[in-house]
Amino acid sequence: MSSIVERDVERLASSLVRHGVGAVEVSFVLGSGLGAFAERITRARAIPYAEIDGLPVSGVAGHAGRLVVGEIDGVRVLAQQGRVHLYEGWSVHEVTRAVRAIATLGCRTFVMTNAAGGIRPEWRPGTLMAIRDHINMQGRTPLRRAERGFGNPYDDRLRAGLQRAAQELAIELEYGVYVGLLGPSYETPAEIRMLAAFGGDAVGMSTVAEVLAARACGARVAGVSLITNQAAGISGERLSHAEVIAAGQEAAGRFSALLERSVRHMR
Ligand code: HPA
Repeated sequence: MSSIVERDVERLASSLVRHGVGAVEVSFVLGSGLGAFAERITRARAIPYAEIDGLPVSGVAGHAGRLVVGEIDGVRVLAQQGRVHLYEGWSVHEVTRAVRAIATLGCRTFVMTNAAGGIRPEWRPGTLMAIRDHINMQGRTPLRRAERGFGNPYDDRLRAGLQRAAQELAIELEYGVYVGLLGPSYETPAEIRMLAAFGGDAVGMSTVAEVLAARACGARVAGVSLITNQAAGISGERLSHAEVIAAGQEAAGRFSALLERSVRHMR
């Protein structure tokens, strides 16, 4: 007997198939303000989340809520333009349902992206960071009892693909540890000092659960953070979601070019 969670994943996967979504090779989750990457997809077809049975829809600004399927350099790709978050009240299973369904359809490579606050004082807004590892401070896991942890869930070869793409395009790419918190509020300066002492380089409110779920499905995972602001207490400025979205728009060209070029190095 499959669990309710598994049945929900299967229902979503069937719905995707009915919408003509077949096996894709590389799947992207696009974070706040980062949806513009989907415009790089050729032979593209967009399906609004609302038309897909069982796909939760985010109410957060900066998330279009569409699934875009098509190709990049002849590789079949899919992009989730927007995701749902735990802080909106969704469960960890709802947050990871799409990733599991896409993996069920045969996708073996995922690239998770997000907007994040920079903990490293030298990182300015607009910095791109390849995720080396993460710290899950969301107090939730999408893993089922039979699913085990895996050590570092981020794939070295995929990260090398990002590095190669960055070199080819002369885009600066940093590397660091992403800390996933529950949100919805930004952190306090004291929390950021704690996260820095813990080894965190960037902080956000997403990604970690989706990464764990994709790994549990046997897929390889890469992660990219766009540093949209200096984390609380570092610059002394007040943080706002509008600032996060604006930084995403400013960096959209570089971010999209990096992801587009990395596809050929990820197969
Ligand atoms: N903190 C948490 N999440 C974020 C931030 C931040 O500073 N910036 C963008 N997402």
